[in-house]
Amino acid sequence: LNLSPRELRAFRRVKFLGCGSAYYVGQIGAQMIEDLARIPADAEPASEFRYRNPIIEPDTLYVVVSQSGETADTAFAVLEIKRKGGTVIGAVNVVGSTIAREVDGGIYLHAGPEIAVASTKALTNMAMAFGMLALHLGRLHDLSYADGERISNALKAIPEQIQAILDSEPAIAAIAQRVAKAENAFFIGRVRQYPVAREGAQKLKEISYVHAEAYPTSELKHGPLALIDPAMLTVAVVPDDELASRNIAAVEQVRARGGEVVAITHEAVEFGTIAIERIVVPKTEPELDPILLIIPTQLLAYHAALVLGHDVDKPRNLAKSVTVE
Ligand code: BG6
Repeated sequence: LNLSPRELRAFRRVKFLGCGSAYYVGQIGAQMIEDLARIPADAEPASEFRYRNPIIEPDTLYVVVSQSGETADTAFAVLEIKRKGGTVIGAVNVVGSTIAREVDGGIYLHAGPEIAVASTKALTNMAMAFGMLALHLGRLHDLSYADGERISNALKAIPEQIQAILDSEPAIAAIAQRVAKAENAFFIGRVRQYPVAREGAQKLKEISYVHAEAYPTSELKHGPLALIDPAMLTVAVVPDDELASRNIAAVEQVRARGGEVVAITHEAVEFGTIAIERIVVPKTEPELDPILLIIPTQLLAYHAALVLGHDVDKPRNLAKSVTVE
C-alpha cells in the first residue's frame, strides 16, 4: 500500500471508486471496512466523481477499483484526487496499467487475464482483496487478535468454498432455465447483500438481456412490490444472519402475490412451506458472506445467456475496457 501503519491509522474515512461491477464490489469493500475497522466507508461510481466537483479530504483514503486499469472514468477520478492532494490506492488486475501507474500504492489482484467483457474472477478477487484490506485496517484499529484470526481463517477457506459452489453448477444451470424465461426480474438483498443484488441484476442484464433491477429488500414494500405478479421473477439473497427472519418475511410477501422466487441462501435458513427454488452456498463469516453469495448470481446470468443463445463473452453494445468518456 506504500502507507505505514501510522499513516493508515490517520485516515478517518475510506471511499471506493469504480465503474459497473467494480463500483458494486467497492460497496462490498466499504461495508467490510465499516464492519471490521469501524471506519466510515462508502463507494460511488467513478464515472460521476469529477463532474460533481468532489471535496477531496486529506484524511480520506481513496481506493480505485479496476480490472483493466484502463477505464477512462476511473483514471480521471484518480487525476482529480491527485490534483487536489488526496491519497489514492488502487485495486487493479492488470500489472503496469495506466491506473496502476498513477496511484500512490495499492493491491495487484493477480487474477490472471480476464477475457469476457463481464467481470467475474476479477470481481471475486477484488472482494477478497477488500476482505484483506478491511482485516488490515481493522487490526490497526479495534479489531481484536481473536476476531482477526477468525476473519483470516475464513479468508483462507474461501477458495475451497468457491470450488464447492462451482461443483453445484448443474443445479444452478437448471434454475437458470427458469430465469431465461423471465422478461423482468428483481434482485433483492439487505445491507451487506444489497451490492450482491446489484451485481446480480447487472450481470443478468449485461449477458442475458433479461431486464433486471436491484432493490434493498427493505425497500420492496415502499414501491416495487406493486410490480410483483406471476410474470415477475425475484432473486432474493437470504443469508443465515441476524436479518434472516426479515428476509424470509419479504420472500413470503412476494410469494403471496404470486411472484416466483429463487433464493440464494445458506443451508440453515428455513423457508418452511414457502415454495421457492433454493441455491445453497457454503457459510463463511458474516462479514465475508457476499464473496460467496455473489458467485451463483454470475452462474445464473451465464447459464441464462447460454439458454438464450447469447455470446456470454462478448455481449452486444459493451466493451471490456472503456478507455473513452
Ligand atoms: C465495464 C465492464 O464496461 O467496465 C464491466 O463491462 C467492468 O465488466 C467495468 O466491471 C469496469 O472495468 P474495469 O476494467 O475498470 O474494472
